[in-house]
Amino acid sequence: MPTNAAPAIEMRGIEKSFGANPVLKNVDFSVSVGEVHALAGENGAGKSTLMKILQGIYQKDAGAILVSGAPVEIADTFAARKAGIGMVFQEFSLIPTLTVAENVFLTNEPTKWGLINDSKAVEQALEIFREMEVQIDPTRKVESLPTALWQLTEIAKALAQDAKVLIMDEPTASLAKHEAEGLFALIERLKAKGIAIVYISHRMDEIYRIADRITVLRDGARVMTESLKSVTPEQIVEAIVGRKAAAHLEHKDRSDKITDEVVLEVTDLSAGPKLQNVSLKVHRGEILGLAGLMGSGRTELVNALFGVDKPTGGTIKINGKQLQISSPKQAIKNGIALIPEDRRAQGLVLDHAVTENLTLPLLDELRAGGLLSNKKILAKSQEIIGQFNIKAAYPGIRVGSLSGGNQQKVVIGKWLGTNPEILMMDEPTAGVDIGTKSEILELVREIADSGKSVILISSELPELLSVSDRILVLKDGRVSKSLNRDEIPNEEFLQLAIQGAA
Ligand SMILES: Nc1ncnc2c1ncn2[C@@H]1O[C@H](COP(=O)(O)OP(=O)(O)OP(=O)(O)O)[C@@H](O)[C@H]1O
Ligand SMILES: [Mg+2]
Repeated sequence: MPTNAAPAIEMRGIEKSFGANPVLKNVDFSVSVGEVHALAGENGAGKSTLMKILQGIYQKDAGAILVSGAPVEIADTFAARKAGIGMVFQEFSLIPTLTVAENVFLTNEPTKWGLINDSKAVEQALEIFREMEVQIDPTRKVESLPTALWQLTEIAKALAQDAKVLIMDEPTASLAKHEAEGLFALIERLKAKGIAIVYISHRMDEIYRIADRITVLRDGARVMTESLKSVTPEQIVEAIVGRKAAAHLEHKDRSDKITDEVVLEVTDLSAGPKLQNVSLKVHRGEILGLAGLMGSGRTELVNALFGVDKPTGGTIKINGKQLQISSPKQAIKNGIALIPEDRRAQGLVLDHAVTENLTLPLLDELRAGGLLSNKKILAKSQEIIGQFNIKAAYPGIRVGSLSGGNQQKVVIGKWLGTNPEILMMDEPTAGVDIGTKSEILELVREIADSGKSVILISSELPELLSVSDRILVLKDGRVSKSLNRDEIPNEEFLQLAIQGAA
């Protein structure tokens, strides 16, 4: 890395308010050529907003931006691209119904439209993928690709536009472990080519793994910029939360809370090719963890139990009674709730108020005993907002204006509010900050302690090991192992079981 060169990007004294709400306060941030600079902070701290200013999506109120030492005004996304600033992942910018090649060369520039559908576009896309050392068929529609390849397509798109700076906003939130490894290797190659990378993440292990420096924002102010060689994880966490944080991932034995009563009994459940003859039992008070690789059938299993996917065989019994669950509505009526993995697509109406989103599944309950009053909706919403520490300027604000992590809290709060007998959660802590994560895990325990049953999917094994009483390992749509928590000595053991080696 040249030490005398100007930073690829430098932001000085950036200020930004939304209405009366100051979101960025005098923030300095820079990233050098060939550097990975991690950006961390609680949900709502201002990370995405700072990067959206760099991309021309939002305008700063004050401050300066320099690209390779020269001051620039980034008035819109077009100007950002011209300055060599590439895309973000927290919200995808791809058009699913177009092909990979079309997306890679799709820009706002009308002159480039000529390229689309051209075999030349396909060829150039192939060339970029070759340079990235990844394999994607440019003629495929984006919607037919797994999420991991959407990201690679976004990176290719940025490189096609000659980006010198790439902004990655929680790129691994939806990736399986081996896919994340692929991304890290790609980041190394991009660094070696002199690309500067801003890496937003809530995962400490990743930050240490790939970043050179870290900047922490708290409540819109910069509270730390350090080389990762000279800072401990404890110091980073303290900067993020502003106080000493305790370790929350220890396993607590809950065997005294689990009863003999079987609440859910699934026998030989099949749904399409991805779920075959799955049998399981969940007891009252129990937390059952589901482990497995991407595509192992974890999401398909909870979707089948929630009536999203139609089972093609097998039986589901709740409290001993056999049920046909053919829709989510029916599942909810029978006391089953699912907090889905793709929360932004399935869980929220982004244009509606936080209050409406929080109380949507509760409308019947709130209506009971008379008219549905706005007062009741507001009171219930405020209760959930308080419980989850959701950062919203006011309860009636659009959900779409909340930070990514706070949107996730809204979905979780919404489903917990329904008071289900059986709560299923698919990756509930992806994208939420460290403090909130331990709050969610503690809440999962409390829910089970109160006599409910929980089924939890998580790709973060320390988290799964911390709360699960039993873990089912799925592989290729089948249960490959059922392990009591005390049969699992450590994370490596579970990792091997998931890979199918143990
Ligand atoms: N378009 C908008 N209108 C109003 N407020 C907004 C808008 N975009 C962001 N905010 C507010 O700015 C603050 C910072 O949000 P931002 O998205 O930058 O947080 P973040 O650090 O990226 O959090 P997360 O980790 O949850 O993604 C939040 O309080 C959010 O509600
Ligand atoms: Mg964000």
